[in-house]
This record gives sequence, structure tokens and C-alpha cells, in this order.
Amino acid sequence: MTAKTHNEITAIDPDDIGHNPSANPSFNDLIASRLSRRHLFGLGVGTAGTALLQACGGGGSGGGFPVLPPAPAPAPAPAPAPAPAAPKLGFTAVAKSLDDVVSVPPGYTATVLYRLGDPIAAGVPAYANDGTDAPANYDRRAGDHHDGMTFFGIDASNKWAPANASRGLLAMNHEAITPLFLHPTGQTIVGTGNAAVRSVADEVQREFFLHGVSVIEVNKGAGGWTYKQDSSFNRRVHTLTEMTFSGLAANTDYLKTKFSTDGSKTRGTLNNCANGTTPWGTYLTCEENWAGYFRRIAATDNPSRSVKEIAAFTRYGVAGTGRELWATTTPDTADNIYGRWNAQVTGATATDDYRNGANTYGWVVEIDPFTPGSTPKKRTALGRMGHEGACLGPVVVGKPLVWYMGDDSRNEYIYKFVSTKAWDAADINGGMAAGDKYMDDGKLYVAKFNADGTGVWLELKLGVNGITASNAAYAFADAADLVVNVRLAADAAGATKMDRPEWTAVNPKTGEVYVTLTNTNAASRPITATDAANPRFYNDPKGVAATAQTGNPNGHIVRFADDGGNPAAVSFKWDVYLFGARATASADVNLSGLVADNDFSSPDGLWFSSATAGLLWLETDDGAYTDVTNCMLLGAVPGKLGDGAAKTITNVDGATTRTQATFVGKAPGTDGLRRFLVGPKDCEITGIAESGDGRALFVNIQHPGETTAAANIGNPALFGSHWPEGGNARPRSATVVITKNDGGLIGL
Ligand code: FEO
Ligand code: CA
Ligand code: CA
Ligand code: CA
Repeated sequence: MTAKTHNEITAIDPDDIGHNPSANPSFNDLIASRLSRRHLFGLGVGTAGTALLQACGGGGSGGGFPVLPPAPAPAPAPAPAPAPAAPKLGFTAVAKSLDDVVSVPPGYTATVLYRLGDPIAAGVPAYANDGTDAPANYDRRAGDHHDGMTFFGIDASNKWAPANASRGLLAMNHEAITPLFLHPTGQTIVGTGNAAVRSVADEVQREFFLHGVSVIEVNKGAGGWTYKQDSSFNRRVHTLTEMTFSGLAANTDYLKTKFSTDGSKTRGTLNNCANGTTPWGTYLTCEENWAGYFRRIAATDNPSRSVKEIAAFTRYGVAGTGRELWATTTPDTADNIYGRWNAQVTGATATDDYRNGANTYGWVVEIDPFTPGSTPKKRTALGRMGHEGACLGPVVVGKPLVWYMGDDSRNEYIYKFVSTKAWDAADINGGMAAGDKYMDDGKLYVAKFNADGTGVWLELKLGVNGITASNAAYAFADAADLVVNVRLAADAAGATKMDRPEWTAVNPKTGEVYVTLTNTNAASRPITATDAANPRFYNDPKGVAATAQTGNPNGHIVRFADDGGNPAAVSFKWDVYLFGARATASADVNLSGLVADNDFSSPDGLWFSSATAGLLWLETDDGAYTDVTNCMLLGAVPGKLGDGAAKTITNVDGATTRTQATFVGKAPGTDGLRRFLVGPKDCEITGIAESGDGRALFVNIQHPGETTAAANIGNPALFGSHWPEGGNARPRSATVVITKNDGGLIGL
């Protein structure tokens, strides 16, 4: 018997796998017919979106989301309001650090609020944090790997009140687990390779419950912010929670399983990464690296599969023994809680097994946090992919709603969904029925970035843009086939491969959309495949050994504006807002002129605060610059699309040099970008939300110490982190709440 972490089993970070073999354009194939900046950016861009703009992911207050228009009958779009004054960063930069603590600027306090295992129901004991807690009560404990989150203010009558400053529901994702610290000595695994099995069902039960979503009530009292252990709103959604499908793929053959013979439902949500919101007051959780959890030994299963099925599995990466090996637990239960993770053909028909199990994951899932007993819905009209997040764009009465979405894998795409129905503010507090209205019917698009700073949204619809039954790579049968296999549809349409799209954020002042492209490597995107929107290739040598890290290891943030300020537009303008780099890197790498107070690598979480009228918060999930610093949170005051310049950079790969034209946003300086927080060892900073008055900022510290070697579980001195408890404790993912000691707005 051996204990292994999932990383040892899979030998590779599932986040790092790309599965896009399409020949979609690199811009070196295009003629760089670049227009002048005046021509590109002088057409009303920057006045986009008028009055009512929302910071996606947050339910905060101030000048953002709650300022929904009153809803007199069919209202014209409100007149443009003067933009609020730009916020000004008002904190002292935090130094880069390798310490096992959370560091914030002088004058601020960070307090741990909600940790892995914390009980969220009366009678559940405190978490022992030594692997001995009873598996059966993990459905009433905080999950692991805290990720995207939203604060929903709540009033005394238990209704959504976005501006509420002292009471709210925090809805948050629990993306994955660090299995080593969940059981007495890590995961118990018998055998190796395809024969490896999980032999202790109790361990698997803990893991089922530790994925998913938390909804918890939080309150500000005399002693600061706490969560309420016995609130009737507290809820865990996990891998066993029943949920239904809606939209194009619901009730089709693609979703039929032994559990749901009509394709109407499934169990659970998984690998919930970034998040999103709706203007009617529900939470969106997004399924990212779900593919790796399914067991499908291709050599065994492929002979039972059609050419199309194999093409789809290949494109989504559904192959292998299954991360965490859940499908191997025996004996299975009558309702197949283990066997449902086996995506192989084992029965006579699709309703006798789970051959379609992987099709039931990869969706945006809507949860009504105000109705704890409500059934979550997987909204299939938004497509099936490695969903990072779903960021709500400008909300205007009488106009369609839009959600912008990244597909987080190397060489994947950026999408948007535009509702058919126009927004009616009478639907505020409309719950899941409002979701049925706006999220099941609309147009899905994928982005193509042109070399001249323009872009187009390619509609993903059967019969257009090459998405037909005669498409060579994949013959689309119907609209359900399209949304289930939307990556293949986007390939056919000719979308632009990006350097791993992570979070999306919409500037509440301008309607401009920002997308983090966290990083890529030479194997996925060689120097010959740079393009204008993914323009850099360089080496970022790591540590004293100067280990080569080639490709775009530090990532960048692309920014775009839909033409005419219309989120339903099918064309846009773009530039690169910001490039990650070491401050010491050369000018062709450190294109944003970063210095010691603001240099960073691998941008991931990204969110505009409403209460501060547009402060941008940027979080990192980095492995490249971690020889110098742990991951961090930076505050930013971004400018506008087109505030920089066209630039031709020189990329270097060993003896090869190659130039690439792009558009670089104005260098931020330390007034425009400043480090606000550095996390403990071996963590990612992700997930962010603010109280209704912006005087409390909630931030998630994910997986401190996650790379601790399995062999060291018996030797606490060798754990990669002991945060937050310190001493010899096992590390725990946790939410921290940050307040300013003078009670002021965070960051100003
Ligand atoms: Fe779960 Fe894309 O990070
Ligand atoms: Ca992420
Ligand atoms: Ca990431
Ligand atoms: Ca992570």
C-alpha cells in the first residue's frame, strides 16, 4: 500500500494539458495590415456601455451592480452618465516574499474567516485537521481549494440587498483538493498504473464532499467578520448533489446515463474555478478541469466508440485512469457513486452505463443562494468547455445580457453568450426562473483576434461558420451536438488560440473587457506560433540553477471593447493591457515597464470592485516567478483600450529571433499597478469579493503547501506550508477578510 498525491498519479498538472490540434490561425499567417491607432481606437471605443455596469463576480455596491435602473415599462436605455472620477491607489506596496504568511500593506488587517473543514451546521465538531474527521459530516464542512466567490448582501427580511454592508451570503467555489492532507497518511492506493485502485471508501467520500460550492452566511459584528455556523442559508453543493440540465443539450441522447435515462439530470459539479453572477441575484459556478476525473482507458474503450466520439474525447482530453481514481473504488453502490466516474462503455446501451458521463460536466451551473433547497441547473446554451468563469457584461434595461467566458487550457478560446431576451429589471430576485428566461436562449460566439487590432465574434450555430455535417474534423449532427462539443465548433469557425484564458472582468466605467491569459510554454505555443494577441516568446530563467522556462511563462492580459459599446456587437477592438514579467527582464519581455513594487507572473483572478468605482484587482497563480515570491494580489487603475502604442517586439528562442507586431497598453507605473498582498508558501491567490460598502474585501488563499511530497506526511517540519494555523499544523485553504484599520475603502 502506498499513499500518493494526485500529482504523482497523473504526473502532470491537468491545467497544463492542451488538447487543441486544430490549424486555427496564428497571426503569422495573416497579413499585418495594421491601421493607425487613430483609425483603430478613435471610433467611440471607451465610451462603451453607458450607465449601468456591473462588476462581474461581485455583488458589491457603490457605483456598480446595485445601481440597476428603476423599471418603468419599456424604458429606453438611460442617458450616458458622466464617468465617476478614476480611483487612486492609496496603499504602500507590499514587498515580494517567500514567507509563510499573508502580508498586506500597513494600515490593513487580514483575518482568516473560513477554512477547509470548518463546520457549517449546528452540531458538527471543529475540524481536527489530522485526517481523522468523520467522512459523513464533510457535506457540512467547508470544501477544499477555495476559488471564485461572490458576496450577496442580505437584508433583515432575508432578501437580496446588494448594498448591505454587514450581512451577506458568500457563495464560493471549492475547485479541487490536496489529498495528502485530507486523510491520516494521504490517499490509500493499491497497485500502480491502470491497475491502481482506491481501497478506502471513507477517503473517497471525504473527497466527493470537499469539491463543489459553499454558500455561507457572514456577518460583521463588534469583533469583525465571522461566518454563522448554524445559519439556515448555509449549504454545500458537491459531487453528489443532484442537478438538472436546461438549454439545447437537455433531454438529448448526449446526456443520457444510467442515472438519467432521459438526459434531464446528473449528479454533482466539479473543478469549480472562477464564478459569475446574474442581475437577478443568483450565482454561477463554472466547471473547469473536469475531464481528468473520468476514467477512460482509450485502448480498451475506443473499439466500442464511433469516430465522432473518439474525436470528442481527444479534443476534451477524456482519457486516463481518472484523477483521484474514484471510479476504482469497490464495491460500487447500487446508485453507482463510484462507477459513474467510469466513462467507458460497460453496458448494452447508454442508459445502462456512464459512457456519456463526461458530457454531463463542463458547464456553467446556476445556483440560487437564497433558496437552500433549490436544484442547481447546468445551463447548456453556454457551451461545454473548461469553463474558467462567466463574467456578466453591462446590464441595461431593454438590452440583451452578455456573459464573457474563457476556456482555460493552452490554445483555447474566448467566448461570449448574448441572451435573446432583453433585460427587464422586474426579474430581479427572479431566481432560477429568470435563469430559464435569459440563459437558455441566446447566441454563442467565439473570438477571433485580427492582427490589425480588430476582432470578430464568430457565431457558433449549426449551418454557419463551417459548423455543418460536412465539417471534416467533426460532423455536427444538431444544435445539442454543437454545445456539447463547442470546442470543435469553435475550431471549425476559425477562432484564435490564446495563451490559456483564465478570468474575465468588465470595467464598470467603460464596458471594456479584460481577460487574463495566464501563461503558456514552448511545447504548446512555439516561437513560430506567436500572433498579435499572444505576441511574446522568451526564456524566464528560474532560480540559482537558471532553469529554462520558455514560451510565455509570465502571461498577459488582453483587453477589448465590443464595437459601438454594444455587447451584442459581432466585432471589437483590442490591445494588450498588461504583460507579466520580472522587473529585471529585458525590454522586449517587460513590455509594461514593471518595477519591484508591481512585478508579477501568471495573472489569473481578475475583478473590478464596484464600491471603489472601478479599482481592478489582479490575482496570480504562478509557478514561474516562485523562486522570488509567493503568489499575490495587486491593485490596479487601468486606463483605456488604445492608451498605449503599436509595437514590434523581438522574440528569442535560443539562436532563433523573430519579430512580432502587437499593441501594448500604456505602462501602468506604480500609480496604475501596485502589489497589495502576498500569500503564504505554495498557494494560489484566487477568488475575490467585497461587502456592500466596499469596506471588507474577501480573498481566497488556495492550496498552501500543495506540493508537499507524499513521503513527508509523517514529518510536519517538511510540509510546504503550515498556514493558517502555524506550528506543525497541516495547511488549509481559507477565505481571508481584509479591512482597513480606519474603516475606509479597500485599496484607496
Ligand atoms: Fe482553475 Fe483556470 O484555474
Ligand atoms: Ca483560475
Ligand atoms: Ca490558473
Ligand atoms: Ca490552483
